[in-house]
Order: sequence, then C-alpha cells, then structure tokens
Amino acid sequence: MGKPKVYIARVIPAMGLNLIREFCDVTIWPEELPPPREIILREAHDADGIVSLLTDRMDAEFMDACPRLRVISNYAVGFDNIDVPAATARGILVGNTPGVLTETTADFAFALLMAAARRIVEGVDYVRAGRWKTWGPMLLLGVDVHHATLGLVGLGRIGSEVAKRARGFDMQVLYYDVLRREDLEVHLGITYTPLDEVLARADFVSIHTPLTPETHHLMNRERFQKMKRSAILINTSRGPVVDTAALLEALQTGTIAGAALDVTDPEPLPADHPLITLPNCIIVPHIASASAATRGKMAEIAARNVIAGLKGEPLPAGLNPEALGKGRSALPRDWET
Ligand code: DGY
Repeated sequence: MGKPKVYIARVIPAMGLNLIREFCDVTIWPEELPPPREIILREAHDADGIVSLLTDRMDAEFMDACPRLRVISNYAVGFDNIDVPAATARGILVGNTPGVLTETTADFAFALLMAAARRIVEGVDYVRAGRWKTWGPMLLLGVDVHHATLGLVGLGRIGSEVAKRARGFDMQVLYYDVLRREDLEVHLGITYTPLDEVLARADFVSIHTPLTPETHHLMNRERFQKMKRSAILINTSRGPVVDTAALLEALQTGTIAGAALDVTDPEPLPADHPLITLPNCIIVPHIASASAATRGKMAEIAARNVIAGLKGEPLPAGLNPEALGKGRSALPRDWET
C-alpha cells in the first residue's frame, strides 16, 4: 500500500510534521522565503494534499496545475490567500487553524498597544544609542492606557480576547462589527457603536477583521480623519485592511498620533519605506501568533486537517465541509490500493 503525497510549503513545527510523516510521503520547501510561484506549481503538481502558508496563493490556476489535490490545509487562521469557492467547485477541502492562536494574538495586540502608548521602542532605541544620561521629567512622555477608550473594529475571537485584556486596565471598550454581538456585550462589558463613532471616540483603535473585498482599505484617508489626533492605530489582522499611503500621510501630518503594526501592505514593506523610519510607528514582522506553544498547536491542527482530507473525513477545522464527497474528494484514494 502506498502513501499519499503532501507538499509542505515551509518548515513547520515538528508536532505537525511528524504527524503528517506517519501517514504521508512529504516534500518540504526548506527555504526561509516562500516557494516562488513556478516552483510551487512544479513541485506540488502531483500532491494529494498541501500545507500552505498565508504567503502562498492557492487560486484556481494552482488547483488546476495540481490535478490530484484534494485538500489544502492553511497554516494560519486567515485564509485570504485561498480561493475557497474555486476549491469547493473542484471538491477540494480547505482547512485553517482557528482557536489555538486567539489568546496569543490578543496578548500581542495588547503588547503593541502598550508599546506604542508608552513609547517602549523609542525608549529601547534611546538607551541603545547611549543617550540615557539621567532621569528626565520630560523624557519620552507617553499616554496612559488605563481608563482610556479602546475601539475594536471587528469582534471575532481575537477582538473579544483583546476586550477582556482591556477590562483589566479599566478601559472603556467600544466595538464595531457587521454582526452585533449582544450576547457578548454584557459578558465582556463592551458597547456596540457605529464605526464612525468608534473612530471619533477611541484613544486606541485595534483592527480585528478578516481581509475581504469589504474590509480592503477599510482604514483609509477619510477614516483616519475621523479619529482623534491623539489616537493610536493597532493592526494585527491583515495589512491591506489599512491603506498604507493614507496611514503614512496621517502619521506624517499628525492626523493621528501613532500606529503599531504587526501586518503591512505590502508585506514585508521595502526596507527603505518611509513608514519604517517614523518614530511614531512601530512595525514588527507579522509575529502576533508567534509563541512556540501556539505555533506547535497550529502545526498540529494543520496536520490533522490534511490527514482527515486525505482520508475523506471531515476536517477538524474545515472551511468548506460542503465539498466533502464531491469532485476530487470523491475520487478513489489510489494510494490505498
Ligand atoms: C493567521 O493565522 O492568520 C496569522 O496571521 C498568522 O498566524
């Protein structure tokens, strides 16, 4: 009896790799940078399953170039890199890694908020540059987090966890989402507020929406102009939810006071991009879910998704269960014969 072939688009933690290896023949892209398009098209062409990353575009062209592919397991909760309807139309199952990274990402969003409010990165740079001579009454004055107003744009799993953290700091929390969550309002002590009002009232605006055509450039010039001049933007969702040029202008002109970004558009930003040099903008390299424990759990879910898809079973975290038993997922599993 043979084994199904799985292409893994980057080295992921052993917890997941070992599970996949037990059941499948694995090819791993070993580099730090994502596989170039022509290479992934070539190397995955005979794969039965793939573990993709958010940097790998899984579109109809890819699916047609890999005619045996029956499951795409994304090593991320976000799946804007995957054309899910195209996968469903072909009977390809798609999975992601929800849940396990929620709290880790919320911790990090809050860390960015604190770092920007209290100018921690500027403080570290100041010390490293040998400029620290004495205690200074006017040195690096920031803004208070406690009792400030936090505006959450998007109240999914991660947004809700950020709200919990904010309550520990006695913050007032306003949220906007396309779906009002009255069930969570009492439980989390948060207030549903129209988007423009969230922007007008919040001292910190933290973005927690998925990237969709509707949220692309949600934070644009007009929306920055609605924010307080003292406000700080935090983005741990997806870069293109924020219009980069509009953010640069807002920070340079003082329309808003600061930003802290885990994600950018493009990603990464070119090393000479002006946003990187602004003292009131903190940028880190998309690491909000990057704790060792969480990345291990993500690898395990990604592995369980790919294995279930290959066995013709429902994925533990599936995005298109309706594709099960249709098209490619209904074909005989020839490695079993
Ligand atoms: C995700 O999972 O979508 C994050 O952006 C990376 O962990």
